[in-house]
Amino acid sequence: MKYSKNIFCLVIFLRTCLGSNIFERRNVQIKQPFTENILLRKLKILNRLICFTQCIECNQCHYVLFNSSICHFSSSFIFEKINSKKINLINYWPIENGETKDLVASKDLYESVNVTFTQDRFGNNNSALSFHYGYIRAPKGIYFQNEFTVLAWIKLKEYVLWQKFFDFGNGKAISNVVVSLSNDYSNRNSFHIFNLTEYRISTINELVLDEWVHLGFVLENGKMSIFKNGSRDAFIDTGEQYPVDIVDREHCYFGKSNWDNSNAVFDCDDIKFFDRALTETEIQNENIYGNH
Ligand SMILES: *[C@@H]1O[C@H](CO)[C@@H](O)[C@H](O)[C@H]1NC(C)=O
Ligand SMILES: *[C@@H]1O[C@H](CO)[C@@H](O)[C@H](O)[C@H]1NC(C)=O
Ligand SMILES: *[C@@H]1O[C@H](CO)[C@@H](O)[C@H](O)[C@H]1NC(C)=O
Ligand SMILES: *[C@@H]1O[C@H](CO)[C@@H](O)[C@H](O)[C@H]1NC(C)=O
Ligand SMILES: *[C@@H]1O[C@H](CO)[C@@H](O)[C@H](O)[C@H]1NC(C)=O
Repeated sequence: MKYSKNIFCLVIFLRTCLGSNIFERRNVQIKQPFTENILLRKLKILNRLICFTQCIECNQCHYVLFNSSICHFSSSFIFEKINSKKINLINYWPIENGETKDLVASKDLYESVNVTFTQDRFGNNNSALSFHYGYIRAPKGIYFQNEFTVLAWIKLKEYVLWQKFFDFGNGKAISNVVVSLSNDYSNRNSFHIFNLTEYRISTINELVLDEWVHLGFVLENGKMSIFKNGSRDAFIDTGEQYPVDIVDREHCYFGKSNWDNSNAVFDCDDIKFFDRALTETEIQNENIYGNH
């Protein structure tokens, strides 16, 4: 009886789960360990083997990473399907298993210099990017609308003057959207939009070295905010309804500047671009879910 219920669930599961390619890691407790009674299936998604968990209690679609032979639960992470359109996620670079793929828009990162893969904040190998005076490039594209949110986990390694988390633009002060991880003012973290003029905000404190922090950069109704671990840390009202130039950007870098600044020294992971302003609660949730 239980078995047939499982088959039924699996059918629903397959139908509802396999339509999308977007999966997100959640640190949800696995309610029931796998036993031989529970139906398991192996499939290859995103070039990764997965095994399904049962979907009796949870009506969400869950699976766990596993290697060729066995499901293992050394970590308590499971992956959950997300609908990128519904949450306005336009690019997502999870950085997993030595890959820099964009799971939403295929804007896979390329042309890296002095970038390696390192452990992420959970200790998984090859699951974060490590820049050592390095950079990696994103393809040309329209990344920013009148509202946007950029989220990522960052571990700063050194205070390098004007090092960029990202600088997406068409040259020096030509339509750039920029985040500097340590600027000329007490090594603070700043967020800049260049259009006909420059709009900028800076945090109160510098980022702590060698510590993972969840950063968020938001534009909403001409208001720019920086979030640190889910709390708003800096805010400015530009007074402009449309501060950002909505164009294709050609020179899109993580770690590199469109100016003559040195390349960056930091680790980063789970980079997400949204084409709307997330609410403070949503950013807090991203921080909580992305945490241990
Ligand atoms: C798969 O995982 C199991 C349990 O963690 C481990 O014992 C086994 O060596 C792994 N196999 C491979 C091929 O990595
Ligand atoms: C991660 O890499 C280190 C060094 O190469 C290795 O000792 C360790 O076993 C790896 N950890 C996992 C979980 O594969
Ligand atoms: C790459 O790293 C080396 C050694 O740290 C450094 O000398 C070089 O300038 C870096 N390359 C770039 C393009 O920054
Ligand atoms: C942010 O959260 C991480 C844990 O996820 C913690 O180690 C770090 O100290 C926090 N940093 C700030 C500035 O709140
Ligand atoms: C920014 O650039 C756009 C052109 O893409 C323009 O329409 C808008 O008025 C500019 N905004 C400001 C405040 O300069």
